[in-house]
Amino acid sequence: MTDDLFTSLTLSETTLPNRVMVSPMCQYSCDDRDGLATDWHFQHLASRAVGGAGVVMTEATAVEPRGRISPEDLGIWSEEHTDALEGSTEFVREQGSVPAIQLAHAGRKAATARPWEGGDPLQPDDGGWETVAPTDEPYPYEEDAPPTRAMTEADLDDVRESFADAARRALDAGFEIAEVHAAHGYLLHEFLSPVTNTREDDYGGDFESRIRFPLEVVEAVREVWPAENPLFVRISATDWLPDRESWTVDQSIRFAERVSEAGVDLLDVSCGGIHPDQQVPSGGPGYQIRYGRRVREGCDAAPEELQIGAVGGITTPEQADSLVRNSRADLAIVGREHLRDPYFTLHAAQKLGREDEVDVPPQYYRANIY
Ligand code: FNR
Repeated sequence: MTDDLFTSLTLSETTLPNRVMVSPMCQYSCDDRDGLATDWHFQHLASRAVGGAGVVMTEATAVEPRGRISPEDLGIWSEEHTDALEGSTEFVREQGSVPAIQLAHAGRKAATARPWEGGDPLQPDDGGWETVAPTDEPYPYEEDAPPTRAMTEADLDDVRESFADAARRALDAGFEIAEVHAAHGYLLHEFLSPVTNTREDDYGGDFESRIRFPLEVVEAVREVWPAENPLFVRISATDWLPDRESWTVDQSIRFAERVSEAGVDLLDVSCGGIHPDQQVPSGGPGYQIRYGRRVREGCDAAPEELQIGAVGGITTPEQADSLVRNSRADLAIVGREHLRDPYFTLHAAQKLGREDEVDVPPQYYRANIY
């Protein structure tokens, strides 16, 4: 039988009730710039779980304070952070969804104001900080970026350990899926891409050297993340910079094979973010879907060993369903449409005539949520 949007998916020993995932989306909503989850984070995750999504993923959650995109980003660098997230994971699970966390470090794209305050880079005097990256070249903003420092071996050890510690805490907080963020021009992508990785040590240069640190991080997380719990990695399949030496789909295919060998269950395939000159083909429906498909087709890893998540411009139930039906992806990852409609999955069930596959919460039953 053909799989569709409402076919469950078992990864390791964790079963997702359907193929819809809430894409990680920064909420910039920590009150005191302390990285602690607030009521806002609870409602963001809880309402999408009530809406029926099979997986509800947190925003990029910083493994150390320097790794926040904005000072208001969520973090998981202490036990206090673990405690602040426990209520959300429990509630998400009670709704039948699987709680997931994106573990992240923003590298040289850290220390920016939140979007509704302009999104500009923040100097240390304005609440920003020195960022760390493979290079000491700051991100080429139009405004002055805060200083960037090229990471030493000691920094690499610290950040690798921070990812592993964050994974341990995420497990304590009740998350069942962890995703390592290696996309969108943030730290791990900065190591992968020759655009940003100009190092001359063991962590820069040829493909093997550029993937070394991201792979070490994935391995460190896999070591502490139990075998029964799925591990995802988000990549940018391409830098969208055809005019220069950059990260390409062919390299993504080779990297996919390597993360699969390292025990990653699903590759979440996004694109871009490394440099402002990127040439985004279009922002229309399913604008990035083809990249997931290309990585899957090129990759030697068996599809049952490395599943593919597609993201970008998925806005309708039909589109999400056809992705799975046509084996273009195993998981439909829906971002902005979930901001417009927290009940995306319940509405999809109605539209596709699959109401029997989802549970409308009894509290809302009489409101005819469909
Ligand atoms: C994002 N995106 C994003 N991606 C990521 O990997 N980690 C993150 O924390 C965020 N934060 C974020 C915030 C907001 C407000 C938006 C709109 C987007 C990117 C997001 O997960 C997704 O990849 C893109 O939005 C494309 O998917 P949609 O929105 O077209 O479904």
